Amino acid sequence: MPIFWRPQLKIGNEEIDSDHRYLILLINTVELVLRFPENPKHVEAALDELHRYAEHHFEREERIQIAWGYRHLDDHKNEHRKLLEALDALIGRVKLALADPTSGPETVKAQSQEITGFLRKWLIDHVLKSDMQMADLFRKPHIT
Ligand SMILES: [Fe+2]
Repeated sequence: MPIFWRPQLKIGNEEIDSDHRYLILLINTVELVLRFPENPKHVEAALDELHRYAEHHFEREERIQIAWGYRHLDDHKNEHRKLLEALDALIGRVKLALADPTSGPETVKAQSQEITGFLRKWLIDHVLKSDMQMADLFRKPHIT
């Protein structure tokens, strides 16, 4: 089942919220291409785009946190690093499976629910538990 952005996910910063919306779309795209792993290039392209944008988004979020003087920046950066490591490990595992043209597509198909479940939790847990702690920051006027 695809996931959709919902108001409970709103942090209150337009750039961060629109990045989260796009990351959700990318996870839905991964879910879609996993139905057709016989086209490994599509699976790889979707995973690579998710990785590229997650990296870009985490950097953007950290820049915003610096600009707003966010107190938990170090912890948050650390969490982003761990999230990217977990994503790297997952992508590496899928690509390794797909490298075998005989059994790869079937292996990936069999794991597709587990993969998309992991990615949904990977993003949504971070947004709700960690990013949401920033919401207070954006409710106050920003003085630079
Ligand atoms: Fe974050």
